[in-house]
Amino acid sequence: MNNFIKRKGIILAGGVGSRLHPLTQVISKQLLPVFDKPMIYYPLSTLMLAGIREIAIISTPQDLPKFKKLLGSGKQWGLKLKYIKQTKPNGIAEAFILAKDFIKNDPCCLILGDNIYHGNNLTKILREANEDQDNSTVFTYQVKDPERFGILTLNKDGLPSKIQEKPKLPKSNLAITGLYFFPKNVSVRAKKLKPSKRGELEISDLNAGYLKDKKLRVKILNRGFTWLDTGTFDSLLEASNFISLIQNRQNTIVACPEEIAFMNGWIKKSDLIKISKSMKNSYSSYLEALLKK
Ligand code: TTP
Repeated sequence: MNNFIKRKGIILAGGVGSRLHPLTQVISKQLLPVFDKPMIYYPLSTLMLAGIREIAIISTPQDLPKFKKLLGSGKQWGLKLKYIKQTKPNGIAEAFILAKDFIKNDPCCLILGDNIYHGNNLTKILREANEDQDNSTVFTYQVKDPERFGILTLNKDGLPSKIQEKPKLPKSNLAITGLYFFPKNVSVRAKKLKPSKRGELEISDLNAGYLKDKKLRVKILNRGFTWLDTGTFDSLLEASNFISLIQNRQNTIVACPEEIAFMNGWIKKSDLIKISKSMKNSYSSYLEALLKK
């Protein structure tokens, strides 16, 4: 059994999903398929790879019951899941206020429900961030359209110097991606934030506070790495095609919670057998193959 730092996880899976209407008119974006599994499996797997077992799913009052139906208590994967309502999309940083009683006095990691991470050394990078309990860690990725993201500027020594939310004149092309590790007391800091001009509690403002206190660490995800967000018609299709291509080429499954739970020693062979027997398709064949490894 692996011994990980006790860190709480949050998947933020609310929002309006307006860019995907009418697809998201009656169903949450994060429940839509990305190739062979619901979108939320990807961020859930990322948290599990980091070694995080206690996870809160935050979503809208109408979608939360569907997430509960899909993921349950989390026991099947050795997890403890909690469900928290966000009545209005008041901003990403509001998650830490809504989840205050869940986070308690522990460090925390938040991932956006529509972000997919895939690449070499992902587990190592995540575990390093998890180990650092005194600082926050963000992950940047080079993008072609920096005006759309929270952008980080580095100084000449390669240290973070400035964060700008959706800058009109970006000083760099390093986007801060939707995965954030924070030390304990992040809820106290979130509570002090003021809504931005667009009326949201901004994650960029929260990160800027850690930067000011010299407590922000940056991990640059390089070009060999893939970071996808799946909020538009094209990016949703591209994500499905990407996952399908990798899985078919390598005969693996990307973001398979059963596999990660098994590798982490959180579930036993008998648990895996039970899950594999509940389906009959390529997903269950993959689980059966894991048993033989
Ligand atoms: P966005 O993609 O910014 O918003 P959205 O999902 O509502 O989509 P659209 O722009 O098409 O209307 O949100 C990023 C992620 O964060 C997404 O998974 C939804 C989630 N989110 C919340 O759950 N609550 C919030 O208050 C905000 C701002 C986002």
